[in-house]
Amino acid sequence: MRLQLLSDLHLETEAFDPEPVPGAELLVLAGDIDATWDAFDRFKGWPVPVIAVAGNHEFDGREFDDAWPALRQRCDGCGIRLLERETLLLTDSGGQRVRFVGTIRWSDFDLFGEARRPQAMRAAGYFLRLMGSTIGGEVLDADRLRAESLDCRAWLAATLNAPPDGSYDATVVITHFGPSLRSGDPRFGSQPGTASFCNADDPLIPLADLWLHGHLHCRHDYLVERPGRAPSRVVCQAVGLQRKGEDRGYDATKLIELVPH
Ligand SMILES: [Fe+2]
Ligand SMILES: [Fe+2]
Repeated sequence: MRLQLLSDLHLETEAFDPEPVPGAELLVLAGDIDATWDAFDRFKGWPVPVIAVAGNHEFDGREFDDAWPALRQRCDGCGIRLLERETLLLTDSGGQRVRFVGTIRWSDFDLFGEARRPQAMRAAGYFLRLMGSTIGGEVLDADRLRAESLDCRAWLAATLNAPPDGSYDATVVITHFGPSLRSGDPRFGSQPGTASFCNADDPLIPLADLWLHGHLHCRHDYLVERPGRAPSRVVCQAVGLQRKGEDRGYDATKLIELVPH
């Protein structure tokens, strides 16, 4: 299966024009497409199926409890299949049955371990204030975000650790937040704020054949070795903010091939 991955278009401020890549069998949107949701219309009539996870910016200034069903409805209306703590089975042109496992995942602030969690949560204050969201009518602070994130993590771990049921040949995980410090933005390195971008999901990566994510405004494509099996591959194909030059090196024609096992 050949996939096109788009994330972090930030069409609420950016002028990027998403185009289908010839040869892609599926488009994956890994979040931060448009904080206003208006640009979801651009994916109406896309030539191949479109599946998505939400990004944090899709919740800017919104109440989570209202935004989730509204976002789902908005995506449905544009032909986009939103995945949040959900799996989807698709069969590619070669007959390979692919299980897509999707969740925004959020950040649990444990990237650098429990001892450094308080520091990581303090560092999140700035972006949470900018985000200006509420959950259950309460201000979305680092504690509430961590609780959401842990729910996502528990679902993801249970789903990936469940014994194969014979219904799929390969597993693709889609998250907005990065699954490893290896997905960090090299501009920022290992500072506390990086725990707002990546989670220590390294033990889960070998349970996926391919892990697609966004949120980091840079590109990644790396392998995680698995004994006796082909390595897992992690890809971030974010566009980022053009006015900050974050799209430098972005390859709009990139196709990600999920190799049959
Ligand atoms: Fe982003
Ligand atoms: Fe993001």
